[in-house]
Parts: sequence; C-alpha cells; structure tokens
Amino acid sequence: MCGIVGYSGKRPAAPALLAALARLEYRGYDSAGIATVFGGDLHIKKGIGKLEQVEENCSLSHLPGNSGIGHVRWATHGGVTTGNAHPHCDCEHYIAVAHNGIIDNFEALKRRLSKTHTFVSQTDTEVIAHLVEEYLEPGAPLEQAVGRAVKDLKGTYALVVASPVEPGKLVACRQGSPLVLGIGKGETYVASDFQAFLDSTRQVVFIEDGEMVVLTHNLFHIYGRDGKRLRRPPVMLDNSLVKAEKEGYDYFMLKEIMEQPDAILATLRQDKQTLQKAAGLISRSRNVVFTACGTSRHAALIGRYLFSSVAHRLSDVIIASEFGYFGEAVNEETVVIAVSQSGETADVLEGVREAKNRGAKVLSIINTVGSSLARVSDRVLYLGCGPEISVAATKSFISQLVIFYLLAFTLAGRLEEATGELARLAAEIKENLAANNYAVPEVADLLSGKDKFYYIARGINYAVAGEAALKLKEVAYVHAESMPAGELKHGTLALIEEGTPVVAITPCDVTREHMLANVAEVKARGAFVIGVSDLPNNLFDAFVEVPQVAEVYYPLVSIIPLQLFAFYSAIARGLDPDRPRNLAKSVTVK
Ligand code: AGP
Repeated sequence: MCGIVGYSGKRPAAPALLAALARLEYRGYDSAGIATVFGGDLHIKKGIGKLEQVEENCSLSHLPGNSGIGHVRWATHGGVTTGNAHPHCDCEHYIAVAHNGIIDNFEALKRRLSKTHTFVSQTDTEVIAHLVEEYLEPGAPLEQAVGRAVKDLKGTYALVVASPVEPGKLVACRQGSPLVLGIGKGETYVASDFQAFLDSTRQVVFIEDGEMVVLTHNLFHIYGRDGKRLRRPPVMLDNSLVKAEKEGYDYFMLKEIMEQPDAILATLRQDKQTLQKAAGLISRSRNVVFTACGTSRHAALIGRYLFSSVAHRLSDVIIASEFGYFGEAVNEETVVIAVSQSGETADVLEGVREAKNRGAKVLSIINTVGSSLARVSDRVLYLGCGPEISVAATKSFISQLVIFYLLAFTLAGRLEEATGELARLAAEIKENLAANNYAVPEVADLLSGKDKFYYIARGINYAVAGEAALKLKEVAYVHAESMPAGELKHGTLALIEEGTPVVAITPCDVTREHMLANVAEVKARGAFVIGVSDLPNNLFDAFVEVPQVAEVYYPLVSIIPLQLFAFYSAIARGLDPDRPRNLAKSVTVK
C-alpha cells in the first residue's frame, strides 16, 4: 500500500513523477503529493483525493526542477488529510521523504525528537524527515544522514529522500517494502513497482532489504547493510510485462475480465521442467499447506479441491494472516504453497518467512516478477498473465486456477490431458465473452436496489461463490455472503425473505441434485434466485448460462459472469470499480 517514486534527470521532474504516480495509483488513492528540488529550495504540493483530483486542485505537474519525489497514499497512521499526505518534511523544509510501509517505533522516536523538532502531521513517516535533519552534518553527503536515520527505524519501509542540500541526488532505502530502480538515458527512477517508469525504461535493478541506493541523473550506487558498495548490473524486463493501458476500455476491471481467455493461454505456457520440479516438491512432502489472502485464497481453495480429486493428495488452506497460529505443525516435511498476485502481501510474506525458519519448503505462485515473495521462495511458478491494475483481482484468479490444474494433473501424470482441455476452454470462453451472452448487465440493473446477496454452491464451486461474493462487496459495496449450500439450513436461512437475491451456482455436475434441493428451500422462503448453470431450471428467476464442461473445470466458466455481475453492479450504482473505497491493490501492511 502506498506508492513511492523518485526521478532525477534532464526533463522536468514533476510531469515524469505524475505519470509514474498514475501507474502506481493501484497502491493507494486517498491522497497524493510531489516534492521537487529547484533553485536551492524544496517545492511541495499535495492534496487529498484521487491523483487526477489532486492534480486538478494543486497542479502538481507545474512544480519546477529536474529531480523530485512523489507519493500516492493509502492511510495507515493519521486520517486522510492534506497534512498527512506525503511527501513529509523536516522543520526547515529542507528534507522531503516519501514512504511506503509502517514505522513501528514512530511514537518513541517522535517523543524523543519532539523536544527539538516541530511535527505537523499524525503520520509515522514524518519522524524519518526529522531524523535525517537531526543527522545531517554540514558538508557531509545526504546518504550519510539517511543511513543513520534508518538505523533508528523499526518496521517496514521503502523510502526516498530528496533535498536541496544536494540537488539532483536522491537517496532510497528498503526494508520489507518493494523498491526498484529504473535506469534510463540520462535519467534514473526509483519506485515501488517498475510499472511506474516502464514507458521510459525497461532496464531495472531490484533493491533488496537492508540496502540503500544513491542516484543522480547519470549514476546509481547501491550499498549493503554493512555500508559496502555492491555491484549489481541492471536487468532488461521483457515485453510481456508492459501492458498496463486500458486499451479502449473505460475500466481496467472490465479489460482484465475480457483478457481472461488470453490469461489462460499465457499461464499454460509454463516451462515443463519447472512445473515438474514444483510438482516434485509437493510429491516429496508429507504435508501440503496453501497460504494466501482474498482472491488468491479462493483460488487456493479450488487448488485444494483439485489436489484431492485429481491427484488424491489431501492439503489444507490457511488464511495468511492466521498462518502464524499454526506454526507449530509446520516442519521440514511441509511444503507451503504461497499464492499471491502481487508477491508483496505482508501477511503472506510473514507466513512464508516463518515456514522457512521451521524448515518447510516454499513454492510460490506469483504474477509480479521480481517481487519480495519470489526472492524468499524455493520455487516459483509465474502466472504470466500480464500486469493486473484493477484493485479487484480477476485475471490473476483465472491464471492461479490454471496453475493448480497444471500442478494437480502433473501430480496425477495426466498433464497433456489438462493442457489440451484448458486451451479448448480458453477458446470457448473467448467466444462467450465476445458474444456477450451472459446477459449479466440486465440482471445487475434489475437488482441494483438490493443491499444484501447470498451466494451458494457446493464442492469445487463453493470457492467460486466466495470469490464472486468478495467481488460484489469490494466493487459494488453490497453486503454479500457465500456458503456451501448445505449450510444454509443451519442458520442463514433465517435471513432469506421475499425478494432476497440468492446466486446459486448449479452446474450439471455431481452437486446439481442437492443444489436444486437447496435452491427450492430458499425459493420457498421468497428468494429471488439467479441460477448460474449450463442448464435452465424453473426454480431460477434469472438465468446466467455458462458452457457445459467436465466437472473439475466449472470454476473457470462460472466465475467469469459473476465477475461481470460485480462489475456491472458497481456501474449500476455509479461507482468506480477500479478504485474501490478503503482498498488498495497491494496490501503491504499486516
Ligand atoms: C481481490 O479482488 C482483492 N483486491 C484482494 O482480496 C487480494 O486478492 C488480496 O489482497 C491478496 O493479494 P495478493 O494476491 O496480491 O497477495
């Protein structure tokens, strides 16, 4: 959460920083700001709201100078106010800091510094600016003061500092939050994510925990924890990572839903040996535990089902934020499968680190190349579905499922069977999306006045119900609850009344008969039933048709119209599905 960027070059810094922040907005959008260095002074503008609003109100892009830093915020410490927006400054307005992460000991530091420094915000970040001010010595380089300041910090950070004390120089450090350099022609960037500067350069250097980097327009020096200079040549990112434009769609969410057939095909292009090695890790282990959050956890639940039904391996799924409480049972015979689109989710990273300390092997399933999770894993399988910008995960979910099909069928020695079927399904889904024959916008409009929804399913489709409910909650702000259909009668049935919408995933598989019985139960209590199925039924008040597929593949076809349903429900309610309130794409706080 929060995105930081720094730029040093020959071009005006502010427009370059603004463009970079626009590509980082998925990390936070409650406020934004830019600080540049020019004429011996810092120039700062910041405000609350989405980036375009802040630009409209404050003209961030008009700030002068060729170097500076920027920030998009997702509030943790201190409310959403202009004063709490970054960059933050020291007392003299001579040091500007943009920060992503949480400084755990900021209160103690603030108490210590308050005797001689004046604080103007409620943020944890402001202590960093005052610490640098405290340690800055006349004539000494800026990095010396920043290096001393970060030694006092406990917590997580990726931060970048600019000051007129050395115009054109930026100092950035990382501990637990992502940081990457972009090396262009006569210009350098540092940012939370390389997407920030991909339209300017694809030459990147990943910064590791405990490292500090000093950059100017034409050089960068990296220093390790011990202060010694490190040599790390830039790597060139490949083209497949560059696809973060809306390409004619009004919203990234819709674009990414429509991209799902291509995402399936892209994820299918796994290196066979890498896949075999990942499967080998699983087959040699005694216990298999998935850990993930949100959408990635729903994908893991389907993975668990596939491991059981296809590969006959029992496994468990533990929500990443709860993983630590199961630590005692994790050992050398455990393989932990960490699932994360971003590879930066703090809860997942913490669980994985703990599992590694206990001797477990870690197989990670990640979309973002170069992420922190990739670097702490024994093996990684990449989704390869391209950048996902919308806060609501859609195509990464489909791609995570593809990985689980590949792993489960590899474990069962039937990989070819799965790859053929998945490629065929990608084509069928593409046709359906192109024909727009899910009839979903009409149903979303019809139900736009409803404020609670229930999603029911059984077996492998149960996690689809969970994922569909999560989508509706996060983008349409509607209360939605999912449950195995058989569980309704154990309490929740009491909430069903005349007109309550119930989405019933009822494909023609082993669950059909029991599902229809449960649908009849809610119908008898007045529910409005939206049947998602390959076969209509009289019990359905609205019918969302999905193609008929072999049993294990139903999640792939049933989630897509339900993602669309959430999207159109947000539109019907006048909401921006790409930037839901209170959320951010990359959850780097615990
Ligand atoms: C999904 O729509 C959410 N925005 C969220 O639940 C997300 O899946 C979760 O935060 C996990 O993120 P990750 O996959 O990047 O770890």
